[in-house]
Amino acid sequence: NWSMDDFIAETIAEIRETVGDKKVLLGLSGGVDSSVVGVLLQKAIGDQLTCIFVDHGLLRKGEAEQVMADLGTGFGLNIIKVDAQKRFLDKLAGVTDPEQKRKIIGREFVEVFNDEAFKLEDVDFLAQGTLYTDIIESGTDTAQTIKSHHNVGGLPKEMTFKLIEPMKTLFKDEVRAIGEKLEIPHHLVWRQPFPGPGLGIRVLGEITEDKLEIVRDTDAILREEIAAHGLESEIWQYFTVLTGIRSVGVMGDGRTYDYTIALRGVTSIDGMTASFAKIPWEVLEDISIRIVNEVDHVNRVVYDITSKPPATIEWE
Ligand code: XMP
Repeated sequence: NWSMDDFIAETIAEIRETVGDKKVLLGLSGGVDSSVVGVLLQKAIGDQLTCIFVDHGLLRKGEAEQVMADLGTGFGLNIIKVDAQKRFLDKLAGVTDPEQKRKIIGREFVEVFNDEAFKLEDVDFLAQGTLYTDIIESGTDTAQTIKSHHNVGGLPKEMTFKLIEPMKTLFKDEVRAIGEKLEIPHHLVWRQPFPGPGLGIRVLGEITEDKLEIVRDTDAILREEIAAHGLESEIWQYFTVLTGIRSVGVMGDGRTYDYTIALRGVTSIDGMTASFAKIPWEVLEDISIRIVNEVDHVNRVVYDITSKPPATIEWE
């Protein structure tokens, strides 16, 4: 007879027992798993927890601020926010291949996190939001070693942490239930899936600051309209893609030659297969009108009506 309250109380007690007076490090992503772990740890050990939140500049509009407000101000988590936008953009300059972009973003993420972790002292534990399904996929570890990237003295440095994975027996729906119990804001607990490489794979081809701004602004409009029409819980995942296509349009007396934005909305259980969401025409119309009126350099909006397979959910 498993109850959420028991789980929370027992987990907090176990964390205290394991950690003692030592320090714990946690990487926050803005997703539900790391947020719930963060709040559990905060309740268990308070200031012995330090979180690192890497802002790679590929997050959605307002997302970084929201994480800081919800978890930092709201729950009192001690969060180091690393503004690494420039670092990521520099590394991604001129790169167009999707797999290459993913690799660069993934590698840079680890390096930024590690660089920051090395500035901390006497940290024994690394906490992770590992779920039961992650363990099935990749097995289980008890420790993790990280290597310094920018080592000052020239000698390679290493740090080994003992792992704390308080949710490794849980499924996603249980994590959400615990998140609700802990009174973590609804939008965080029920956040739609968001890929690690973020908006970096929603700007097709080369990523630039200007293009990121277009995809960020159009995504924000899409999310606002889906919420305004009460469709948030009906569509599993929805976002915009800045295609590389430019086409001719007309504005006033003149012609334009600007970008095409694709809207993607899918229904799915687990992301392995998906159907395109049958968003009502009127809603699509509202979204399209707002996007072309409010976002510069977009003069056309199309809706992706392919399912997975054969298409993937993301475009890259
Ligand atoms: P695809 O595009 O493969 O996406 O149909 C399936 C689901 O996975 C998400 N996705 C990712 N998540 N890192 C992630 O953490 C990634 O590199 C990544 N690529 C895709 C995608 O958003 C969808 O929910």
